[in-house]
Amino acid sequence: MSHRITLLPGDGIGPEVVDATVTVLEATGVSFKWDRHDKVGAAAMAEFGNPLPEHVLESIRENTVALKGPITTPIGKGFKSVNVGLRQKLDLFANVRPCKSLPGLKTPFQDVDLMIFRENTEGLYSGIENFDERLEIADTISRITKRGSERIINFAFEYARTHGRKKITLVHKANILKQAGALFLGIGRDVAAEYPEIEVNDRIIDNMCMQLVMYPDRYDCVVTTNLFGDILSDLCAGLVGGLGVVAGANIGEDCAVFEAVHGSAPDIAGQGIANPTALIRSGELMLRHLGEVSAADVLHEELLGCYAEGDHLTSDVGGSSTTAEFAERLAERISSRS
Ligand code: NAI
Ligand code: MG
Repeated sequence: MSHRITLLPGDGIGPEVVDATVTVLEATGVSFKWDRHDKVGAAAMAEFGNPLPEHVLESIRENTVALKGPITTPIGKGFKSVNVGLRQKLDLFANVRPCKSLPGLKTPFQDVDLMIFRENTEGLYSGIENFDERLEIADTISRITKRGSERIINFAFEYARTHGRKKITLVHKANILKQAGALFLGIGRDVAAEYPEIEVNDRIIDNMCMQLVMYPDRYDCVVTTNLFGDILSDLCAGLVGGLGVVAGANIGEDCAVFEAVHGSAPDIAGQGIANPTALIRSGELMLRHLGEVSAADVLHEELLGCYAEGDHLTSDVGGSSTTAEFAERLAERISSRS
């Protein structure tokens, strides 16, 4: 059977890491039919007058799974984020970001193993914004709902239960954001009562940043609202080797979109030096989602092998290979296993 997947190369380093990931995924022997849409974001805005055209959404709804490169969002002006738009329109409420140390990669801590569960559709990213030109006042509303909080927190606890994880930390700012914070935290405590085998604690976001930088081994799963999750996932990426190595999955009831944590990296785009590991690992999550567990296991083992042996790594993780060289070497290792 062939899996039909919507492929969104995105922009910046997107097409480079997407091509690399496709090479690696195809080396596993799993058969894919790629439904590729090159024009999303600024390119779609220029061609269709809409950065997230309906035919792209339709393709994902139909295929139910997408693999996506990063998409640039103009800063402080221009069209709204396509990344946020996709998550909201497809109701991909759970953003799952595993941050685990890689063998052989020198970082300040060797045994980091964190799972970040970020609410992906509301909070400060709800899109409720206003600028009063006369008074020069900007409002951005953070909307937290009972339903939104319940589903991400339930998702995190269920994941912990089914994956043998021991502990969940609820991250919030309920001391200052009394309404939204109390709602999220209260639901967290209610849900926790249904999972007596999982240890639960909570941390205020600012303290949590310091805790993670100093004592990452004290933490296991983290569940939090949209903005805090966005920031914490880049922080945790920094603990395990940087944005070049951390995968992500956006999961909803009907569809799932797999993408790296990183953005379009305009500073290195077009040079062929971006690390495709983050998107390749997102591809591994996609394989597991598709039920292709043995292919995912082989990919996982060979990727770890590349890191343990320093085999054709890119420059961000201490090597000197290009994006394509790393992908080809990893694909070769995977093919030799079958
Ligand atoms: P970024 O994640 O693109 O880059 C931050 C730093 O990490 C840069 O120095 C970059 O070179 C490095 N980096 C990122 N990915 C890398 C990789 N695979 N290999 C090696 N180095 C890597 O964040 P930035 O610069 O803040 O954002 C750039 C654009 O990306 C913005 O327009 C932003 O809106 C967009 N973005 C899109 C995301 C998405 O599509 N889901 C997520 C985050 C940002
Ligand atoms: Mg981010």
